[in-house]
Amino acid sequence: MYFDTHAHYDSSKFNTDREEVLSSMAENGVTLIVDPGDNTERSRRAVALAHRYPFIYAAVGWHPEEAESWTDESLCEIRALAADERVVAIGEIGLDYYWDKTFIDQQKMMFRTQIELALELDLPVIVHDREAHGDCLEIVRDYPMLRGVFHCFSGSVEMARELIKRGWYLGFDGPITYKNAVKALEVIRSVPMERILLETDSPYLSPVPNRGKRNDSRNLPYIAAVVAREKGMDVETVAAATMENGKRLFRIG
Ligand code: NI
Repeated sequence: MYFDTHAHYDSSKFNTDREEVLSSMAENGVTLIVDPGDNTERSRRAVALAHRYPFIYAAVGWHPEEAESWTDESLCEIRALAADERVVAIGEIGLDYYWDKTFIDQQKMMFRTQIELALELDLPVIVHDREAHGDCLEIVRDYPMLRGVFHCFSGSVEMARELIKRGWYLGFDGPITYKNAVKALEVIRSVPMERILLETDSPYLSPVPNRGKRNDSRNLPYIAAVVAREKGMDVETVAAATMENGKRLFRIG
Protein backbone atom coordinates (compact mmCIF):
# COMPACT_ATOMS: atom_id res chain seq x y z
CA MET A 1 0.00 0.00 0.00
CA TYR A 2 1.24 3.41 -0.98
CA PHE A 3 1.23 6.90 0.53
CA ASP A 4 1.52 9.71 -2.05
CA THR A 5 2.80 12.53 0.16
CA HIS A 6 2.51 15.18 -2.57
CA ALA A 7 -0.28 15.34 -5.18
CA HIS A 8 -2.31 18.33 -6.36
CA TYR A 9 -5.84 17.00 -6.87
CA ASP A 10 -7.07 20.56 -6.30
CA SER A 11 -5.61 21.32 -9.76
CA SER A 12 -8.05 22.18 -12.57
CA LYS A 13 -6.30 19.46 -14.61
CA PHE A 14 -8.52 17.01 -12.69
CA ASN A 15 -11.78 18.93 -13.23
CA THR A 16 -13.19 16.47 -15.77
CA ASP A 17 -12.53 13.21 -13.91
CA ARG A 18 -11.38 13.95 -10.34
CA GLU A 19 -14.06 11.76 -8.78
CA GLU A 20 -13.25 8.83 -11.06
CA VAL A 21 -9.48 9.09 -10.50
CA LEU A 22 -9.77 9.43 -6.72
CA SER A 23 -12.30 6.63 -6.35
CA SER A 24 -9.90 4.24 -8.10
CA MET A 25 -7.04 4.85 -5.65
CA ALA A 26 -7.82 2.13 -3.09
CA GLU A 27 -8.06 -0.63 -5.72
CA ASN A 28 -4.66 0.50 -7.03
CA GLY A 29 -3.07 0.28 -3.59
CA VAL A 30 -2.90 4.03 -2.87
CA THR A 31 -4.39 4.46 0.59
CA LEU A 32 -3.10 7.87 1.72
CA ILE A 33 -2.50 11.18 -0.07
CA VAL A 34 -1.40 14.66 1.02
CA ASP A 35 -2.63 17.48 -1.23
CA PRO A 36 -0.61 20.69 -0.76
CA GLY A 37 -2.04 24.07 -1.74
CA ASP A 38 -0.21 26.72 -3.77
CA ASN A 39 -2.16 29.78 -2.61
CA THR A 40 -5.22 30.57 -0.50
CA GLU A 41 -7.78 29.46 -3.07
CA ARG A 42 -6.02 26.20 -3.88
CA SER A 43 -5.34 25.50 -0.20
CA ARG A 44 -9.06 25.93 0.46
CA ARG A 45 -9.80 23.43 -2.32
CA ALA A 46 -7.26 20.98 -0.87
CA VAL A 47 -8.98 21.22 2.53
CA ALA A 48 -12.39 20.64 0.89
CA LEU A 49 -11.03 17.49 -0.83
CA ALA A 50 -9.63 16.28 2.48
CA HIS A 51 -13.11 16.55 3.97
CA ARG A 52 -14.66 14.70 1.07
CA TYR A 53 -12.18 11.77 0.94
CA PRO A 54 -11.04 10.09 4.15
CA PHE A 55 -7.68 9.06 2.62
CA ILE A 56 -6.76 12.63 1.61
CA TYR A 57 -5.12 15.12 3.98
CA ALA A 58 -4.34 18.74 3.13
CA ALA A 59 -1.36 21.05 3.46
CA VAL A 60 -1.95 24.79 3.20
CA GLY A 61 0.45 27.46 2.05
CA TRP A 62 1.72 29.78 -0.66
CA HIS A 63 4.08 28.47 -3.33
CA PRO A 64 7.06 30.72 -4.27
CA GLU A 65 5.79 30.98 -7.85
CA GLU A 66 2.74 32.79 -6.45
CA ALA A 67 4.91 35.46 -4.81
CA GLU A 68 3.51 38.28 -6.94
CA SER A 69 -0.02 37.75 -5.57
CA TRP A 70 0.86 37.42 -1.87
CA THR A 71 -0.73 40.18 0.25
CA ASP A 72 -0.88 41.06 3.93
CA GLU A 73 -4.07 39.00 4.23
CA SER A 74 -2.49 35.83 2.83
CA LEU A 75 -0.88 34.82 6.10
CA CYS A 76 -4.14 35.29 8.05
CA GLU A 77 -5.99 33.20 5.46
CA ILE A 78 -3.44 30.38 5.70
CA ARG A 79 -3.49 30.53 9.50
CA ALA A 80 -7.28 30.20 9.49
CA LEU A 81 -7.18 27.26 7.04
CA ALA A 82 -4.42 25.54 9.04
CA ALA A 83 -6.76 25.27 12.02
CA ASP A 84 -8.78 22.66 10.13
CA GLU A 85 -8.46 19.14 11.57
CA ARG A 86 -7.62 17.70 8.11
CA VAL A 87 -4.54 19.94 7.69
CA VAL A 88 -1.27 18.11 8.44
CA ALA A 89 1.39 20.55 7.17
CA ILE A 90 2.21 24.03 5.89
CA GLY A 91 3.08 23.83 2.19
CA GLU A 92 4.01 24.02 -0.36
CA ILE A 93 6.42 26.79 0.51
CA GLY A 94 9.99 27.59 -0.46
CA LEU A 95 12.09 29.23 -3.15
CA ASP A 96 12.03 28.87 -6.93
CA TYR A 97 14.77 30.60 -8.93
CA TYR A 98 14.10 28.66 -12.12
CA TRP A 99 11.32 30.68 -13.73
CA ASP A 100 11.62 34.19 -12.42
CA LYS A 101 14.11 35.92 -10.16
CA THR A 102 12.11 39.17 -9.90
CA PHE A 103 10.49 38.30 -6.57
CA ILE A 104 13.37 36.68 -4.70
CA ASP A 105 13.07 38.97 -1.67
CA GLN A 106 9.31 38.45 -1.57
CA GLN A 107 9.84 34.66 -1.89
CA LYS A 108 12.27 34.66 1.03
CA MET A 109 9.92 36.74 3.17
CA MET A 110 6.97 34.40 2.40
CA PHE A 111 9.13 31.34 3.11
CA ARG A 112 10.23 32.63 6.53
CA THR A 113 6.76 33.91 7.45
CA GLN A 114 5.18 30.54 6.68
CA ILE A 115 7.96 28.61 8.46
CA GLU A 116 7.26 30.73 11.55
CA LEU A 117 3.55 29.93 11.23
CA ALA A 118 4.36 26.19 11.02
CA LEU A 119 6.48 26.44 14.19
CA GLU A 120 3.75 28.39 15.96
CA LEU A 121 1.17 25.71 15.03
CA ASP A 122 3.60 22.80 15.57
CA LEU A 123 3.18 21.54 12.00
CA PRO A 124 5.79 20.17 9.57
CA VAL A 125 6.46 21.99 6.28
CA ILE A 126 6.57 20.87 2.64
CA VAL A 127 9.44 22.68 0.92
CA HIS A 128 9.72 23.47 -2.78
CA ASP A 129 13.37 24.14 -3.65
CA ARG A 130 14.07 24.68 -7.31
CA GLU A 131 17.56 25.92 -8.16
CA ALA A 132 17.68 27.63 -4.77
CA HIS A 133 19.55 25.03 -2.68
CA GLY A 134 21.95 27.41 -0.96
CA ASP A 135 19.28 29.91 0.10
CA CYS A 136 16.80 27.20 1.17
CA LEU A 137 19.41 25.55 3.34
CA GLU A 138 20.49 28.87 4.81
CA ILE A 139 16.91 29.68 5.78
CA VAL A 140 16.04 26.30 7.32
CA ARG A 141 19.29 26.37 9.33
CA ASP A 142 17.84 29.41 11.12
CA TYR A 143 15.01 27.22 12.49
CA PRO A 144 16.55 24.17 14.20
CA MET A 145 13.18 23.00 15.58
CA LEU A 146 11.59 22.98 12.13
CA ARG A 147 10.76 19.59 10.52
CA GLY A 148 9.41 18.67 7.14
CA VAL A 149 10.20 17.35 3.71
CA PHE A 150 12.23 18.73 0.85
CA HIS A 151 9.83 17.83 -1.92
CA CYS A 152 11.24 16.44 -5.21
CA PHE A 153 14.71 16.67 -3.73
CA SER A 154 17.30 17.78 -6.29
CA GLY A 155 20.22 18.82 -4.08
CA SER A 156 23.59 17.18 -3.52
CA VAL A 157 24.47 14.22 -1.30
CA GLU A 158 26.14 16.69 1.04
CA MET A 159 22.98 18.80 1.35
CA ALA A 160 20.89 15.63 1.82
CA ARG A 161 23.14 14.49 4.66
CA GLU A 162 22.85 17.83 6.43
CA LEU A 163 19.05 17.82 6.14
CA ILE A 164 18.87 14.24 7.45
CA LYS A 165 21.02 15.22 10.41
CA ARG A 166 18.62 18.08 11.10
CA GLY A 167 15.66 15.68 11.14
CA TRP A 168 14.27 16.35 7.67
CA TYR A 169 12.74 13.96 5.13
CA LEU A 170 13.43 13.87 1.38
CA GLY A 171 10.70 13.33 -1.23
CA PHE A 172 11.34 11.62 -4.58
CA ASP A 173 9.17 11.85 -7.67
CA GLY A 174 8.93 10.82 -11.34
CA PRO A 175 12.26 12.40 -12.38
CA ILE A 176 14.17 9.58 -10.64
CA THR A 177 12.82 7.27 -13.38
CA TYR A 178 14.29 9.43 -16.17
CA LYS A 179 17.47 8.41 -17.99
CA ASN A 180 19.39 11.51 -16.86
CA ALA A 181 18.73 10.85 -13.15
CA VAL A 182 22.16 10.38 -11.59
CA LYS A 183 22.49 12.75 -8.61
CA ALA A 184 19.10 11.85 -7.13
CA LEU A 185 19.94 8.13 -7.30
CA GLU A 186 23.21 8.77 -5.49
CA VAL A 187 21.25 10.66 -2.82
CA ILE A 188 18.78 7.77 -2.45
CA ARG A 189 21.68 5.35 -1.89
CA SER A 190 23.28 7.71 0.65
CA VAL A 191 20.35 8.46 2.96
CA PRO A 192 18.54 6.17 5.42
CA MET A 193 15.34 4.52 4.17
CA GLU A 194 13.60 5.94 7.26
CA ARG A 195 13.75 9.46 5.76
CA ILE A 196 12.56 8.80 2.21
CA LEU A 197 9.06 9.71 1.04
CA LEU A 198 7.37 8.81 -2.24
CA GLU A 199 5.53 11.59 -4.08
CA THR A 200 4.07 12.10 -7.54
CA ASP A 201 3.51 15.91 -7.67
CA SER A 202 0.46 15.03 -9.77
CA PRO A 203 -0.62 16.27 -12.29
CA TYR A 204 3.05 17.05 -13.09
CA LEU A 205 6.25 14.98 -13.38
CA SER A 206 4.86 11.65 -14.65
CA PRO A 207 7.36 8.84 -14.30
CA VAL A 208 8.54 6.63 -17.16
CA PRO A 209 6.68 4.88 -18.84
CA ASN A 210 3.95 7.53 -18.61
CA ARG A 211 6.21 10.56 -19.02
CA GLY A 212 4.45 13.39 -20.85
CA LYS A 213 0.97 12.31 -19.76
CA ARG A 214 -0.99 13.76 -16.85
CA ASN A 215 0.29 12.19 -13.65
CA ASP A 216 -1.71 10.68 -10.80
CA SER A 217 -0.90 8.66 -7.68
CA ARG A 218 -1.44 5.32 -9.44
CA ASN A 219 2.03 5.88 -10.94
CA LEU A 220 3.72 5.63 -7.51
CA PRO A 221 4.88 2.00 -8.04
CA TYR A 222 7.20 3.17 -10.87
CA ILE A 223 8.92 5.58 -8.47
CA ALA A 224 8.99 2.98 -5.69
CA ALA A 225 10.63 0.49 -8.08
CA VAL A 226 13.58 2.83 -8.66
CA VAL A 227 14.03 3.43 -4.93
CA ALA A 228 13.84 -0.34 -4.36
CA ARG A 229 16.47 -1.00 -7.04
CA GLU A 230 18.86 1.62 -5.62
CA LYS A 231 18.37 0.37 -2.06
CA GLY A 232 18.54 -3.32 -2.97
CA MET A 233 15.13 -3.89 -1.39
CA ASP A 234 11.88 -5.24 -2.74
CA VAL A 235 9.12 -2.84 -3.76
CA GLU A 236 6.80 -3.97 -0.95
CA THR A 237 9.42 -3.07 1.64
CA VAL A 238 9.85 0.39 0.09
CA ALA A 239 6.07 0.90 -0.01
CA ALA A 240 5.70 -0.12 3.64
CA ALA A 241 8.67 1.96 4.84
CA THR A 242 7.60 5.11 3.01
CA MET A 243 4.03 4.65 4.32
CA GLU A 244 5.39 4.60 7.89
CA ASN A 245 7.71 7.54 7.19
CA GLY A 246 4.86 9.66 5.84
CA LYS A 247 2.57 8.80 8.75
CA ARG A 248 5.35 9.70 11.20
CA LEU A 249 6.16 13.05 9.60
CA PHE A 250 2.53 14.12 9.13
CA ARG A 251 1.34 12.45 12.38
CA ILE A 252 -1.40 10.46 10.72
CA GLY A 253 -2.94 7.49 12.55
NI1 NI B 1 3.94 20.37 -5.92
